[in-house]
Amino acid sequence: MESVLITGANRGIGKALVEEFLRYGWQVFAATRDPGKANFPLPSKDSSSKFEIIQLDVTSDESVATAVETVRETTSQLDVLINNAGIFPEEGNERLAEMKLAWFREAFETNVIGVARMIQHFRPLLSAGSRIANISSALASISSKKHFGYYAYSASKSALNMFTRTVAAEFAPDKIVVAALSPGWVRTDMGGPGAPLSAKESAECLFRTITHLSMDQSGSFMGRNAEAIAL
Ligand SMILES: NC(=O)c1ccc[n+]([C@@H]2O[C@H](COP(=O)([O-])OP(=O)(O)OC[C@H]3O[C@@H](n4cnc5c(N)ncnc54)[C@H](OP(=O)(O)O)[C@@H]3O)[C@@H](O)[C@H]2O)c1
Repeated sequence: MESVLITGANRGIGKALVEEFLRYGWQVFAATRDPGKANFPLPSKDSSSKFEIIQLDVTSDESVATAVETVRETTSQLDVLINNAGIFPEEGNERLAEMKLAWFREAFETNVIGVARMIQHFRPLLSAGSRIANISSALASISSKKHFGYYAYSASKSALNMFTRTVAAEFAPDKIVVAALSPGWVRTDMGGPGAPLSAKESAECLFRTITHLSMDQSGSFMGRNAEAIAL
C-alpha cells in the first residue's frame, strides 16, 4: 500500500487532501499540531486505507523528530510527503510602513524553515520514486509581481520555491522528485469565503498531479493541474 504524510492536515486543503488519499486506498499519516482537536473523516468500512493521526508542529525540531519515530513504527518508507502547513500572517494589503517585521519571521519560520526541517528529518524515509510536494502559492511568482502587498507571505513562498529547486537538484541522483505546487485560490480559513475553489476541488486536482509527478518535473513550480507557473 502506498503511503503519504500530509502536514496541516486538520483543516482546509490539508484535510481535503487526507480525504482524497483515503478515497484512493492510501496509507495516510495526517499530521496536525493538536490531534485532540482534529475532527477527521475515517476510511469507509470497505476501504483498504489505513489512517493515523500524528502530532507535528513544523516549527519544532523535537515535534518533527518524534513524528518521524512514530511513522517508523508503521513503515520505513513514505511514497509521498506533502508539506502543506502554512501561515499567512498579514492582511495582505498593508504598505511596508504598516508591516510588522515579526510577520516576516513568522512566515519564514513556518513556510520555509518548517519545510526544510520536515525534509531534513523525513529524508531517511524517502527513496527512489518518492515524491515531495511543497504547497506554494501563485503569489510566489516573482516575474508576475506587479503590485505592493502580501509582503511577508509572498516573499516566504518565493523562498520556498527556490528551496524546492535546490533540494530537487540535490535529490535528483537519488530519483526523489521535489516540486512546488500552487493549489489555486481556495475557500479555507486562509483563502476566505470569496475564493472560487472548494478545498475538495483543489485537493482532487492536487492528488492527480502529485501522484503523477515524474523526475522531469522535479524542481518546477506548477499549478494544481500541473500547468507551469513562471518563477
Ligand atoms: N487557501 C488558499 O487560497 C491558498 C492559496 C495559495 C496557497 N495556499 C497554501 O496552501 C496551504 C494550505 O492552506 P489552507 O488554505 O488550507 O490554510 P488554512 O485553512 O489556514 O490551514 C492551515 C493549516 O496549516 C497548519 N499549520 C500552521 N502552522 C503550523 C505549524 N507550525 N505546524 C503544523 N501545522 C501548521 C494549520 O494548523 P492549525 O489548525 O493547528 O493552525 C492548518 O492545518 C498553505 O501552505 C497555504 O499557504 C492556500
